[in-house]
Amino acid sequence: MSQPRDAQTDPSSALTRRTLLGGGAAAVGATAFGFFTPASAAARPAGRIRDPFTLGVASGDPTPGGVVLWTRLAPDPLAGGGMPARPVPVAWQVATDERFRDVVASGAEVSRPELGHSVHAEVDGLRPGREYFYRFRVGAELSPVGRTRTAPAPGAALASFAFAFTSCQSYPAGYFTAHRHLAEEDLDLVVQLGDYIYEGRPDPRDLRPHEGNGEPITLVEYRNRHAQYRGDPDLQAAHAAFPWAVVLDDHEIDNNWADEVPQDPARQSREAFLARRAAAFQAYYEHMPLRRTSLPRGIDMQLYRRLTFGDLVDLHLLDTRQYRSDQAPQSQRLDPTRTILGDQQESWLQAAVAGRTARWNVLAQQVFFSQRDFASGDALSLSNDAWDNYVADRDGLRDHLVAVGTSNPVVLTGDVHASYVCDVKADFDDPDSATVATELVGTSVTSGGDGRDQNPSDAVQLAENPHIKFINRNRGYVRNVVTASGWTADYRVVDVVTAPGAPVRTRASFVIEDGVPGAQPA
Ligand SMILES: [Fe+2]
Repeated sequence: MSQPRDAQTDPSSALTRRTLLGGGAAAVGATAFGFFTPASAAARPAGRIRDPFTLGVASGDPTPGGVVLWTRLAPDPLAGGGMPARPVPVAWQVATDERFRDVVASGAEVSRPELGHSVHAEVDGLRPGREYFYRFRVGAELSPVGRTRTAPAPGAALASFAFAFTSCQSYPAGYFTAHRHLAEEDLDLVVQLGDYIYEGRPDPRDLRPHEGNGEPITLVEYRNRHAQYRGDPDLQAAHAAFPWAVVLDDHEIDNNWADEVPQDPARQSREAFLARRAAAFQAYYEHMPLRRTSLPRGIDMQLYRRLTFGDLVDLHLLDTRQYRSDQAPQSQRLDPTRTILGDQQESWLQAAVAGRTARWNVLAQQVFFSQRDFASGDALSLSNDAWDNYVADRDGLRDHLVAVGTSNPVVLTGDVHASYVCDVKADFDDPDSATVATELVGTSVTSGGDGRDQNPSDAVQLAENPHIKFINRNRGYVRNVVTASGWTADYRVVDVVTAPGAPVRTRASFVIEDGVPGAQPA
């Protein structure tokens, strides 16, 4: 994906074919900050910044003909970024070819110190369902080249849609080898289901210790943590290869936080936690290819949203952290006043999955959806951080999918550092009840370390939960190819993350047939 910095585009062809987009900012980009202006004539303030693209490039949230292009200027990434405390213009280009001979859009954004000199260029007016290449320039410095893809036209008859989902990438736990393999897949999109960073303190015994002096609390500390992760070359390769759609889970802020409640209320006051949440949200936005609609306002960040891919896939990205009731003892799991989605998100989702939708309706979210009993025999032992602790919301959503006849619902899950395949049952306590949806759970990239095929206790889970059809505890990601007739999920795993370079293999493949909830071994 990368390209030599001295590779030059033919200016005449670029100038004639360039389409200026985005109004004023783009017009400025074409003149003062254009890629082909001699360096001496370019904006003087930008000319002196050396090596600002240490965090790579990314793109995300594709629409028909549009996509967000991301970078963040950080010549000193682990020390607050190292940028001067003033706005710096950043030019960008989009081309149909990797060598930028056919530039079809260009413009400029002003990166500001208030947002960590991050850049979120929302490009529109491209062709739907097409591959593009993009890059940024500051002064004489060119960024690496990224590749992206716009979403197909609304309702377009798609032959197939290929995407992977990924979660839980603990930097200290190992190398992001899975991302290196992910970057080499043939995909339209990557979906990240949270635990993009971990907030843990540095431990010198770790393979790749976290930066900093403790858990991040302030905005600068969260920036440095994100920058450490984003400096990883395998992660950069995966971002540069495809557009991503991201949602966060708990570790982007604090383990198992719930709305305004931290993990350890005895040690973090409500006020301190809310300030921490606002800082963590802002750093997350600064480092992700998100649209301005997700720009945090104080402690709030709009993350639940829908992306549509022709007539084939409606991707509903959910936020199960920001609006949830605090985790409660298992005895309170049936309390109908408790929520994991919050009323507004629940209403939005109920409307979004009713009526006319794409053939496949994906619920991309964080925590385990299906019932999961860890205890053998009559005893019931459930996770209180998962949908099992919010039964009214879980069963209500499940029953709604049935009631409105949502076409092919598929729940995607991260969080548990293991791969699962589950039938979503009309009644989880009755194995003979109907299967009404499918849940695919993806393993971690590294979290938990090298992993293994299964734990001894997995036999108990499989016996106690007949709707769970597969458990595997290697590291990796899930590759999916979706067509009108079926969905194939390949569980791609690596055997080792504590040493670099492990090969990838497909541990198992499952197929969901159109109109038949539940995945079957391929
Ligand atoms: Fe995790």
